Amino acid sequence: MTVSVRRLERDDDRTSFHSGNIELDRFFHLYAGQNQFRHHLGTSYVVVDDEQILGFVTVTPSELASSSEKKAARPRPVLRLARLAVDERWKGRGVGTLLLRVVFQLAHRLAREEGCVGVVGDAKPDAVTFYEKLGFEPVVASAGHLGDRPEPTPLFLPLALIPVDEE
Ligand SMILES: CC(C)(COP(=O)(O)OP(=O)(O)OC[C@H]1O[C@@H](n2cnc3c(N)ncnc32)[C@H](O)[C@@H]1OP(=O)(O)O)[C@@H](O)C(=O)NCCC(=O)NCCS
Repeated sequence: MTVSVRRLERDDDRTSFHSGNIELDRFFHLYAGQNQFRHHLGTSYVVVDDEQILGFVTVTPSELASSSEKKAARPRPVLRLARLAVDERWKGRGVGTLLLRVVFQLAHRLAREEGCVGVVGDAKPDAVTFYEKLGFEPVVASAGHLGDRPEPTPLFLPLALIPVDEE
C-alpha cells in the first residue's frame, strides 16, 4: 500500500468517505472539521491515498479515574480514541491498524511531554474484538459518554502495553 498518514486538513474532501456506519460518517462529514479547526475539541488523523481519505481516527485528551483504588479516585491523563472508521472499500487492508499505530505513538509522545497513562477507546459492539486483540480491556465509564446508540463499550490499554515504533 502506498499511503500516508497525516492530520486532517481544512480542504480535505470528507464527503466521499463512507464507512458504512451512519453515525461515524455523519460525525466525519459534519463535525470533525469544526471540532478540530474551530472548537479545538479533538484532532483527526487520516490515511490518504492520493488525497482520497481511506480512514480516520479522532483523538482528544481525557482523564480516567479508577474506582478500584481505596483512596478517592484520582483522575489520570489518558489519550481518548474517540472515533475510528475505515472506508468500506478499504476495510481489511490494514488501514485501521495503521491508524491505531498513529494513536499509540501519540500516546507515547503525550506521556513524554505532558503525561499519559494509556489510551481509552469507545468500541462499537462490532469492534470490541478488534480492540481486545490489541490488549484493550473493558473499563467502567462513570462520565464522558459520547451519547451514541447503541452505547459503546469503554476500553483501556495501559501505556506499558503499547508498542513503541522505531523512529
Ligand atoms: C473496525 C475497523 C476500524 C477495522 O479497520 P480495518 O482497516 O478493516 O482493520 P485492519 O485491516 O487493520 O485489521 C486488523 C485486524 O483486525 C481484524 N478486524 C477488523 N475488523 C474487525 C472487527 N470488526 N472485529 C474483529 N476483528 C476485526 C482483522 O481481521 C485483522 O486481524 P488480523 O491482524 O488477525 O489479520 C473497520 O472495520 C471499521 O471502520 N468498522 C466500522 C466502524 C467501526 O466499527 N469503528 C470502530 C469504532 S469504535
